Amino acid sequence: MAVGAAAVDAVVLVGGMGTRLRPLTLSAPKPMLPTAGVPLLQHLLSRIRDAGLTHVVLGTSYRAEVFTEYFGDGSDFGLDLEYVVEEEPLGTAGGIRNVADRLRGDTAMIFNGDVLSGVDLEALMKTHSTADADVSLYLTKVADPRAFGCVPTDGDGRVQAFLEKDPNPVTNQINAGVYVFQRSVIDTIPTGRAVSVERETFPGLLASGALVMGHVESCYWRDLGTPGDLVAGSADLVQGIAPTSALPGPIGDALVLPDAEVAVGAMLTAGSTIGSRAHVAGGALVEGSVVFDAASIGEGAQVVRSVVGFGAQVGAGAVLRDVVVGDRAQIGSRVELIGGARVWPDVVLGDGSVRFSSDG
Ligand code: GDD
Ligand code: MG
Repeated sequence: MAVGAAAVDAVVLVGGMGTRLRPLTLSAPKPMLPTAGVPLLQHLLSRIRDAGLTHVVLGTSYRAEVFTEYFGDGSDFGLDLEYVVEEEPLGTAGGIRNVADRLRGDTAMIFNGDVLSGVDLEALMKTHSTADADVSLYLTKVADPRAFGCVPTDGDGRVQAFLEKDPNPVTNQINAGVYVFQRSVIDTIPTGRAVSVERETFPGLLASGALVMGHVESCYWRDLGTPGDLVAGSADLVQGIAPTSALPGPIGDALVLPDAEVAVGAMLTAGSTIGSRAHVAGGALVEGSVVFDAASIGEGAQVVRSVVGFGAQVGAGAVLRDVVVGDRAQIGSRVELIGGARVWPDVVLGDGSVRFSSDG
């Protein structure tokens, strides 16, 4: 872009606890979970950098050190990266207010750290500057808006209301998790306590008559906050459906990282990723799944739309569908787990110990 103006800072909110992704988020914060071979946040940062934004401030809290260890000062990623740590989580608006003294310009782009999208950041900025808005929000339409912020707009694109996680949404148009804020608005957010941008700041701005604009785009969009969305988002990246410049390999049916061993006759499909030093034995099927580093999948096992944690072992003939296996857990041979099961780290399930079939 040319959002590119050096005067625009990027702020990424990455302080959440990732509760819905437990047990994976016991060891790593959500934005650091491997998706298509690299941390989820690296894909988002690649989009930010491609838009010409290079000064990025990460608002961290939960497991803050994991970000610093991986991204450092950002120079390896073409960025000038700063970190601000909240000792106690300050909420989404508190997190924005807390980084105010690091902002260099009059305008900041704020990103939720767990969203993959193809939004045109330059067009979003244009919507904001053309209207001379106080705040502008990237909006998208989804089939079921109840898990998101419901955001109706008028014919001019002006936001009329912000209704977070409304059980009876008035529109399927939702907050897609990227905002443009004038610095002067950030300065009005209270300090010293937790503040929610969705439940307090946006409704308050609207009540006070501030100009809040909506920028609607219908490009690729997914929030990776649940196991189902994490595996689907990773598969979309591998297959080139979700945009990124951080894919560590060619687009294809599967991504196999260096030093992984995949036996002849194993099938890797639907955008699966096999981590470094992981092992997939002959006759195994890995479909639309994420296998973390150093995990192993036994002979003839089936792993479908599932996550297999670091160093976890899946025994021969085991069947996993829509399952999360925690780090180092051992799933015995012929075990069958389906439909949202979560195995905690280090748990050992003996051979044939959990079945859905009745034939032992
Ligand atoms: N720094 C900081 N401090 N970051 C936080 C905190 C905090 O206290 N709480 C949450 N975050 C970060 C999370 O790490 C995440 O990147 C982002 O803020 C949004 O939090 P989620 O927990 O993922 O929220 P959500 O998915 O339920 O809803 C939000 O995103 C939807 C779009 O994906 C809301 O903004 C919805 O309105 C929106 O539709
Ligand atoms: Mg989210």
